[in-house]
Amino acid sequence: MRATATAHKDFTIAKIDDRVYGAFLEHLGRAIYEGIYEPGHPTADENGMRGDVAKLVKDANVPVVRYPGGNFVSAYNWEDGIGPREQRPVRLDLAWHTSESNAVGVHEFADWCATVGTEMMLAVNLGSRGVDEARNFLEYVNHPGGSYWSDLRIKNGRMEPWNVKMWCLGNEMDGPWQVGHKDADEYGKLAANTARAMRMFDKSLELIVCGSSHSDMATFPDWERIVLEHTYEQVDYISLHMYFRNPEKHTGNFLGLSEKLDTYIDTVASTIKQVKAKKKSKKDIYISFDEWNVWYHSNKKDREILNGDSGWPHAPGLLEDIYNFEDVLMVGLILNTFIRRSDVVKIACIAQLVNVIAPIMTEKGGPAWAQTIYYPYYFASVYGRGTALNLLVDSPTYECAHSAKTAYVDVSGVHNEEEGMLTFFLVNRHSSESIDIDISLQGFAGGTIVDHQVMTHSNLEAVNTAANQTEVAPRKGSGASVGNGQLSAKLPPYSYQMIRVKV
Ligand code: AHR
Repeated sequence: MRATATAHKDFTIAKIDDRVYGAFLEHLGRAIYEGIYEPGHPTADENGMRGDVAKLVKDANVPVVRYPGGNFVSAYNWEDGIGPREQRPVRLDLAWHTSESNAVGVHEFADWCATVGTEMMLAVNLGSRGVDEARNFLEYVNHPGGSYWSDLRIKNGRMEPWNVKMWCLGNEMDGPWQVGHKDADEYGKLAANTARAMRMFDKSLELIVCGSSHSDMATFPDWERIVLEHTYEQVDYISLHMYFRNPEKHTGNFLGLSEKLDTYIDTVASTIKQVKAKKKSKKDIYISFDEWNVWYHSNKKDREILNGDSGWPHAPGLLEDIYNFEDVLMVGLILNTFIRRSDVVKIACIAQLVNVIAPIMTEKGGPAWAQTIYYPYYFASVYGRGTALNLLVDSPTYECAHSAKTAYVDVSGVHNEEEGMLTFFLVNRHSSESIDIDISLQGFAGGTIVDHQVMTHSNLEAVNTAANQTEVAPRKGSGASVGNGQLSAKLPPYSYQMIRVKV
């Protein structure tokens, strides 16, 4: 089989916002406790933060981390996580039926972000709380000093404000599972009032209002329209979430889910335009896709923990999906979609970062390792920075549950002009056929392949474990070539690859 593509230097989509490679950490399961924080671990620093985990996060050059939830934030009191540790209260977390020690709060999280070189994106609680909590939290985090909350921060050991720019106005407020769930009008009004108050403190904040929890919600896409009608002039982004599942073990349909993702983005982009037109506004709103990942492997175990009689455990092993090779392909496809929709998707967060549906796994007192999906995330984040190219792709197709014509070859292209680098991320969705692809490079001079990474495996269900951490890992590719202004490569069946060309 053959496929072709054309990459022209001037035929671009948008400058990719680096924050599209962000991640998410929630007080859930072992994400924080035994994830990033484990005092006494052989690699822990003086703050009890695991060095092995921090290294994997740093290596992936994660630009932003959303915190502290998730469903957790909708009944969270941020004040519980400040001040001397021994005085912090243990609370019941209603979202995940667990106990929260509050040993980690905003100070510890901020210090960890500084260690791993990432920016904070904070969420305020618009479930059980509202405007007052949001304005106080903002003052605590961002005001230099001389007021009640900022002076309390200083007393608690942090002199400088953190100047957090990105603030989420609650989480998944369309979901009946959310503490303090609201209908679109109710939430839209609360979000608008909260945003107004936050902007009275600082006009330059970047505020993110909740869109739908997923595109199968009965309220989608009216939720987006109504919420934006209330908040359009007050916010900058609308948040979308989507998790990808394959319980039926139908790889063709599973890998076709990125078509559904694309339609979801497209629909919300249209809704944004509709409300913009209705409001006669000059302002643009963008999408913050701040929760996405494969999530289904752990469902059975989670039901046992959550429905069983386990009481209110602290940091149980919830949502610990063990990712396989098939998920590598799916994550590659999701990231390709975000690159191609970089005109509207400006922030995105893989959910989550450590242990909980995460690319990084840990064992208590033991190692931290990269799950299979770490690699496509790593490659996109480290090498996918620049301008997204509008590739003209011609690939054989197949029919799946989400689209009549799903291309076997899915490809995104990124041009980094400063580095003189062209990077292609390619997925072959075909189960048995290799596909030869020729990419015509137009408007680029020269062309030398400087890196070629391939991920394939004979078993779609192969996983990495503590004992075998590299069962699924990239290897150096061979056989790709550039000549006469054309990049040619062979894409093995069910494969992911990255090719970098110096131009
Ligand atoms: O990431 C896990 C959960 O998924 C989050 O808490 C929630 O926002 C979503 O439903």
